[in-house]
Amino acid sequence: MTTPPDWIMIGGEGPESYNQQSSYQRALLEAAKGKMTEAISTNLSLDLISNRFSIADFGCASGPNTFVAVQNIIDGVEEKYRRETGQNPEDNIEFQVLFNDFSLNDFNTLFQTLPPGRRYYSAGVPGSFFDRVLPKQSFHIGVMSYAFHFTSKIPKAEELVPGGLMLLLGSCLRDGVKMSETPKGIVMDFIGESLSDLAQQGVTEQAKVDTFKTSIYFAEQGEMRQIIEENGKFTIEAFEDIIHANGEFPLDPKILAISFKAFYGAFISAHFGVEVMRKAFELVEFKAREEISRLHNAKPGMQYLIVLRKN
Ligand SMILES: C[S@@+](CC[C@H](N)C(=O)[O-])C[C@H]1O[C@@H](n2cnc3c(N)ncnc32)[C@H](O)[C@@H]1O
Repeated sequence: MTTPPDWIMIGGEGPESYNQQSSYQRALLEAAKGKMTEAISTNLSLDLISNRFSIADFGCASGPNTFVAVQNIIDGVEEKYRRETGQNPEDNIEFQVLFNDFSLNDFNTLFQTLPPGRRYYSAGVPGSFFDRVLPKQSFHIGVMSYAFHFTSKIPKAEELVPGGLMLLLGSCLRDGVKMSETPKGIVMDFIGESLSDLAQQGVTEQAKVDTFKTSIYFAEQGEMRQIIEENGKFTIEAFEDIIHANGEFPLDPKILAISFKAFYGAFISAHFGVEVMRKAFELVEFKAREEISRLHNAKPGMQYLIVLRKN
């Protein structure tokens, strides 16, 4: 059984694409590099670092952020190996990277823009990460960056080797803060209001607005812990609050509209058509301009790195 894709990013490398408009998500990966290295050094057993080391990125999109995530992990593994064995990792370890996303994801752009000089072999793994997409125990470290909020459960653990690590990065809510009180929540409300405005203007049908729902879910920090603990297959080794200068979207109406379009645009287009989607984001920019002080007074969200070790 496969789950039909309900959310993909705008592909290609054009001005509306996720590839070009995902620097907000990339900033977390860059800020978390030191913590990722530390997590690998502390929690990954040296025994697991042998001649073939496999890394899987779940929800990789079309790049380039996945390349940053993967390189952070490779650098961490190599550093640990070099320090603890005194040997050169390049002589002894070959890396394999498994890039997973829905089959409709733009894998062409991903593979055409692989970093030159990379020290890994690449393979695409199409399909929902809630189904089994890999054989049992086929990777040593998995990463999921800005893809965990697509649900309130965590994917299966069988594909990871025992003792292997899952690194989850993304945004959540601080305990006690409502989504609608954060800048992201306010912009998401603008999107809903814009679609309703377009229905009132007769640009789209009200029935389409009424049947539109997203699978996206930003949990509170405590709720995330609970979801993972209830799963029972992982130990939470770290739950880091990554505070960095680009932790929130720049509160510029144009940038907000472009960034949210890259993230939500393909999904909204699939339901309403591309013209309605574009008009909706013009209205989002307008609303953000009108209510800029509300955005400035919003409560901050939280950017996290969660380190899980498979039991
Ligand atoms: C916001 S993008 C994040 C991309 C990249 N990891 C980053 O950090 O920029 C989320 C990605 O997760 C993918 N995704 C969401 N749910 C998924 C699922 N169940 N299985 C596979 N991929 C999924 C989407 O298609 C999308 O490409």
